Amino acid sequence: MADRETLKIAAMGDLHVKGDQNASFRELFGEISHAADVLVITGDLTDLGKPREAEILTEDLRACSVPVVAVLGNHDYESAAAEEVSQILRHAGVHLLDGQATEIDGVGFVGVKGFIGGFGRRMLGSFGEPAIKAMVAESVNEAIRLENAMRQVRTERVVVVLHYAPILETVAGEPPEIFPFLGSSRLAETIDRFRVSAVVHGHAHRGAYEGRTPGGAPVYNVAAHVEKPTGRPYALLEI
Ligand SMILES: [Fe+2]
Ligand SMILES: [Fe+2]
Repeated sequence: MADRETLKIAAMGDLHVKGDQNASFRELFGEISHAADVLVITGDLTDLGKPREAEILTEDLRACSVPVVAVLGNHDYESAAAEEVSQILRHAGVHLLDGQATEIDGVGFVGVKGFIGGFGRRMLGSFGEPAIKAMVAESVNEAIRLENAMRQVRTERVVVVLHYAPILETVAGEPPEIFPFLGSSRLAETIDRFRVSAVVHGHAHRGAYEGRTPGGAPVYNVAAHVEKPTGRPYALLEI
């Protein structure tokens, strides 16, 4: 298929689908299929990481006729069933990225969950107790996995899909006490070593919609609760 000149991407995170919920995303996914060429979901697809929740989501995703790219969020790990949740999503056709890249209509999508650790000079450093060092190592490891996935991409246009925030700007609005738990600048440092068209993330439900990495890559917090120019729970990006 010939590459489109621009790809319309609907991006949304933090669906938090519950096992007992009556609210359905079906209508919204139908709307997105008319508005966009691709749907990107930036993690926290489920509320407690239960396979049943993932099944409910995939039932709703039948209403989505465009390709779906996603990463998992921290909530998708809560029931220690992330592997099963991932399988359910993949069987439903979701391009679930966890340190990989995929290409849709000439645009590369690179996905990793990311991790916590804080921002800029105040990032948590690898010092002291083994538990602290393990936490920092996990944060560094996610950045390395992002880097490895970036190296797989062969397209000019690249969208990075994360759950955790790579910059401070898009978590602004959350209580400052929890900023370090909302993301890590290590992700932005990696992103800025490549040419990236846009970065989307979620997790910071009360954060701000828009920001930029120090290197200038546009970053969008697309958590469903964040107010967006569309006036809808999803953002629309033309890449
Ligand atoms: Fe969330
Ligand atoms: Fe989250």
